[in-house]
Amino acid sequence: MAEEILTQEKPEKKKRIFSAIQPSGTITLGNYVGALRNWVKLQDDYECIFAVADLHAITVRQDPKVFRQNILNAYALFLACGIDTEKSIFFIQSHVHTHAELAWLLNCYTQFGELSRMTQFKDKSAKHADNVNAGLFTYPSLMAADILLYQADLVPIGADQKQHLELTRNIAERFNGIYGKTFTIPDGYIPKVGARVMSLQDPTKKMSKSDENNNAWVALLDKPETIMKKFKRAITDSEARVCIGEGKDGINNLIGIMSAVTGKTADEITAEFEGKGYGDFKTAVGEAVIEEVRPIQERFDRLIKDKAYLEEQYRKSAEIAEKISQRTLDKAMKKIGYLAR
Ligand code: TYM
Repeated sequence: MAEEILTQEKPEKKKRIFSAIQPSGTITLGNYVGALRNWVKLQDDYECIFAVADLHAITVRQDPKVFRQNILNAYALFLACGIDTEKSIFFIQSHVHTHAELAWLLNCYTQFGELSRMTQFKDKSAKHADNVNAGLFTYPSLMAADILLYQADLVPIGADQKQHLELTRNIAERFNGIYGKTFTIPDGYIPKVGARVMSLQDPTKKMSKSDENNNAWVALLDKPETIMKKFKRAITDSEARVCIGEGKDGINNLIGIMSAVTGKTADEITAEFEGKGYGDFKTAVGEAVIEEVRPIQERFDRLIKDKAYLEEQYRKSAEIAEKISQRTLDKAMKKIGYLAR
């Protein structure tokens, strides 16, 4: 009993979370359902640190003017989704110098063979065959640096980032094994529903903005009529029964999206659409997504006009992020044997 009171009086230290998203021009429903939406929910129960991963973004060629705008748009959009700088630290990766520095150090503790096995590297180098740069190859060490700098306990991500997180754990364990405990070993935090939102045109593939077919993905900032059009065109099957099943990738995906945005279970959705056709179901999913993104789009439209406010938020967060991450960088450098600055 006394023990119980003691633990009640001394609340446990909150666990720390780190995650980031690249500022591609199109933040998709996949990014939202697989990652962003969960970040927002985690803010009350964890100490959260989030970033716009703009250093990662130059592994593919960027037009400077468009890139600059995309970074700001991503920052505003994530705030519009509910990231709250009163509760969380939310900064732009390139504003905190420690990321690139630790990434270099970690590169020297990451094996060529490990990086060669990354499926995302294989996919992206096939897609951008004219620009298979070293950054594309070593990108997972930068991601490891992002996470390890903050001694994060948990990393909320979609299923496609699991392999990179496992590599992060391996790098951290290797470093700790050589020098003694330096980095916290992070766990992944992959949502039960929506960890892999699939393409609306080929539901065996992940929804990705780099898909050449624009109907394959839904962007958070797509107009309502565009969202509806894309859902109406979504590929399904010939069974015409709204339920989870084998060979029903399209419907499984739509049920997953519906479940993620409404909070209903797959069984509840199946019961609701018993006897109804796919046309009705696709329209309902489109409507549910439109309702989910409507307030986000309204907030985005307001925020993106207020550059001074955005600047104040990302500067304030970058300052704190730099202080936290500098401690880890100093510790790692000292262990390796560098002279103190
Ligand atoms: P990125 O920018 O490709 O994606 C950001 C987040 O969105 C998730 N996601 C999806 N989830 C479900 N279904 C989909 N179709 C889908 N598409 C994307 C991703 O899993 C991810 O969680 N390297 C990372 C960014 C990053 C990062 C980090 C993440 C940089 N540093 C440190 C975590 C921790 C990336 O390119 O994600």
